[in-house]
This record gives sequence, structure tokens and C-alpha cells, in this order.
Amino acid sequence: MSDVTKQFSMKNKVSLVTGGGRGIGLGVAEVLADAGSDLVLVARSEAQLKDAAGMIEKRYGQKVDIVCADLSKVGDYGDIVEMALSRFGRLDVLVNNAGSNVRKPFLEFEVEDFERVMSIQLRGAYFMAQAAARHMAQAGAGKIINLASLSSKLAFPNISAYGAAKGGILSLTKAMALELAPKNINVNAIAPGYVRTSMTEAAFANPDGKAWMLSRTPLKRFGTPEDVGYAALYLACPASDWVTGEVMFVDGGWTAA
Ligand SMILES: NC(=O)c1ccc[n+]([C@@H]2O[C@H](COP(=O)([O-])OP(=O)(O)OC[C@H]3O[C@@H](n4cnc5c(N)ncnc54)[C@H](O)[C@@H]3O)[C@@H](O)[C@H]2O)c1
Repeated sequence: MSDVTKQFSMKNKVSLVTGGGRGIGLGVAEVLADAGSDLVLVARSEAQLKDAAGMIEKRYGQKVDIVCADLSKVGDYGDIVEMALSRFGRLDVLVNNAGSNVRKPFLEFEVEDFERVMSIQLRGAYFMAQAAARHMAQAGAGKIINLASLSSKLAFPNISAYGAAKGGILSLTKAMALELAPKNINVNAIAPGYVRTSMTEAAFANPDGKAWMLSRTPLKRFGTPEDVGYAALYLACPASDWVTGEVMFVDGGWTAA
């Protein structure tokens, strides 16, 4: 095996992907499995998780465990890590991807809307990362990848809580990178541009919205879950061992323009 192949390999690693049953999480899971990682997929829908696990096992030959959990609820995070460890005996990578959004003008946002976004996008990500990092600190190594967004950096109408959460993800990524570096845990973020998934379906279904998104994307195509997956692979594998506290914009050039 050449050195480069080894540096980008996920052989004998175990990766936990939250929201791994569909969309970007599924794309990330597929790329990690293709590079040799076994997987733990966590989400709410058992049916979606089972389909995703069956497909990945068949296509890539890696072992996949599933955990049904609502990550917006306080309390499950340590148990989820324990489940991964009891199945595989190790946990090398966390991809903190699960998320949802509420679209409403700022002036109409209710506390419940705010809580719905924050409880998964920021609090859930924070405590899932803490639970994984507690194990990784003991194990002496680990990689954590948080999903950020264009709205971590730029303002978009009607998603004020989402933007606040994703801005928080960038600060959290840096704070964790700093505190966890002595434990040999790398923490980075990926900020995707527009990818067609359940979360963005409404925007894609609107022809004007779709044309506007494309007009703002210098590379003139939308992203795919795999585009995000390849960035995640780099941040998950040994090739990125000296990278921490970084955010990688995988956005077709949106934030450069
Ligand atoms: N699609 C995009 O264009 C885009 C752009 C930037 C960032 N993101 C981010 O990427 C991540 C994935 O988004 P997506 O577009 O694939 O969306 P999606 O709706 O297709 O997938 C979200 C996943 O998260 C899971 N999830 C949601 N709430 C959960 C909860 N409370 N507990 C457990 N699992 C939960 C869902 O079950 C699903 O598997 C999100 O963090 C999102 O904010 C998406």
C-alpha cells in the first residue's frame, strides 16, 4: 500500500455519523465506508437507518450498527457512545451531522421554534461531541467533524436561529480544538453550500430560489452528499492529523464570490 493510500484509509476505524440515515449524513457514511470504516449510524427513523445500513453493508462490505435516538433530548449521548463501543470496541470518528431547521421571519419566531433548532443543531451537537470526546480522550486519539453551513458566516433571511446555531458551531469547533488538542483529538468543521436533501427540498422546489442559488455558485452546480463526504474523509483519516480548529467550506465557491 502506498503511503498516500494508507494516509487516506479508514481501515480498522469506526465512525459514528449522526443523521446518517439520509441526505448529507448518508453521503458521508458511504464515503467513509468506501474508505474502509465500520459505522454507527444514529437518527430517529429506524426504517431509514435500516435501509441505509443494509445498502452500505451490501455495497461496501463494512459493518454497520444503527442506533435510534432523538439527539435533541438531553441524556442519551453517553449511552450512544457506549452502544458503539459495545458493538465495535472502539470509536475513532464522530461526524456531528444531525440537524433540522425552522424557516420563519425573525419577528415571528417563537421560543418553541428557537428551541427546536437549537436543541439539535447546537446543544445536541455539543453534548454528542462531549460524550465522544470523553471516550477519545481515554483512548488517546480521535477526530470530530461538525457540520457548519454558509449561514455560519453569512446571513440568510428567515433562518435566524439556524444561523445562530451554525455560527455557534464554528466557535464550538475552535473551542473544542483548543481544549482537546492535548488529548490528541482533532476537531474541525465542514460548511457545505446548497445540497438537495429533505432539509432544502422547499428551496429547490421553488424555481426562482433554485436559479438564485445556482447564480451565486461560481462552480455552477449544486453540491452532492458525496462532495461533503470526501471532505469528511480527509478530516477523518490520518492525512489530516495536523489539522484542527479549521472550517472547510465545500460550497462551489459561494463564500469566495
Ligand atoms: N442540505 C444543505 O444544503 C446543507 C447545507 C449546509 C449545512 N447542512 C447541514 O448538514 C446537516 C445534514 O443536513 P441534510 O441536508 O442532510 O438534512 P436531512 O434533513 O436530509 O438530514 C438530517 C438528518 O438528521 C436527522 N435528525 C434531525 N433531527 C434529529 C434529532 N433530533 N435526533 C436525531 N437525528 C435527527 C434526520 O433524521 C436526518 O437523518 C445538517 O446539520 C444541516 O444543517 C445542510
